[in-house]
Amino acid sequence: MTDAPLLELRDLRVSYRKRAGLGLRTTSFDAVKGATLTIRPGETLGLVGESGSGKSSIANTVLGLIAPAAGTMRFRGTDLAALKARYPSGLRKDIQAVFQDPFSSLNPAMTVEDIVTEPLRVHTNMTRAERRARAVDLLAMVSLSEEHLNRHPHQFSGGQRQRIAIASALALEPKLVVLDEPVSALDVSTQNQIINLLYDRRDALGIAYLLIAHDLALVHHISDRIAVMYLGHIVEEGPADRVYTAPAHPYTRALLDAVPDLDPAQQRARRARRRQLAPQGTQRHAETGCPYSNRCAQVMPRCRSDAPPAYAVPGGGTAHCFLLDPGANGAGHASDRKEPALP
Ligand SMILES: Nc1ncnc2c1ncn2[C@@H]1O[C@H](COP(=O)(O)OP(=O)(O)OP(=O)(O)O)[C@@H](O)[C@H]1O
Ligand SMILES: [Mg+2]
Repeated sequence: MTDAPLLELRDLRVSYRKRAGLGLRTTSFDAVKGATLTIRPGETLGLVGESGSGKSSIANTVLGLIAPAAGTMRFRGTDLAALKARYPSGLRKDIQAVFQDPFSSLNPAMTVEDIVTEPLRVHTNMTRAERRARAVDLLAMVSLSEEHLNRHPHQFSGGQRQRIAIASALALEPKLVVLDEPVSALDVSTQNQIINLLYDRRDALGIAYLLIAHDLALVHHISDRIAVMYLGHIVEEGPADRVYTAPAHPYTRALLDAVPDLDPAQQRARRARRRQLAPQGTQRHAETGCPYSNRCAQVMPRCRSDAPPAYAVPGGGTAHCFLLDPGANGAGHASDRKEPALP
């Protein structure tokens, strides 16, 4: 994995216009406030963070569905940001997507054959017979068969629909597949099957994934690196094992504490507890300083005034947190907690 980056985001900003009041006046809201990320060929980057943190905004910008407000976005050397969300066919082929909801993402009027061969029809000169033959191979790859070709999406379960979406996304052997919560709508055992399928396909085809999820435990299995988003910021990034076993940012630690229990009753109880601990209001972005400062249990005075830069984390990666400031020597942290000085 020492190749040149496949995808490189630098200070990417994604903005939406919001209507201010009843008039025609609009204000702009930054859903992604400067994201820097790299994905190498064949690598899986897991992008996690709670709802509204900006994960899909990054995904949709990479896919060319939204034009970025600022920053650069290079894919194999091409500046995607300069294309203003209108990708030429050659590029379109190389970046594919699978979305969360297999019930709305597949056109109900199309047959499985139409769905799986659509990218081939648009981007290749293959004949109908060639496309059909390729569709059979693609279905086999996701454990479906020829007999499914003439059926419609409503005749399949959620997991099967996601297999169809994956077959379609892989039809052109893309370099990068953006997976926006590909298993969130599925039950746990189906989730594992789909994750395993993605894992196998990646290793067989050498595809890179941008894998978006809420659940750190789930992405950890398949990701080489993990990036953690909080309210439009990437607060931590690094090798998947390091981020999962030794999270450096307090927000990443909080996310890990929120890893779902396999027991549904436990899970419901924990979720209810979390809602009490972190009502929506406290999710608001801190006005100045670290975006997590108004929720952080280890907040220090400087966190409220200064934005923490990226500090290197032992074991790899970076985190935007003053607790890692080598210059502070841990002193600021200790004195904030009023720990007694050693004799
Ligand atoms: N089309 C839009 N217009 C205005 N605001 C939007 C739009 N899409 C997203 N947002 C806002 O941008 C922020 C980031 O949304 P985004 O969908 O990227 O988050 P997310 O991390 O994917 O969340 P989830 O986990 O719920 O999918 C949110 O505050 C959201 O309300
Ligand atoms: Mg999303």
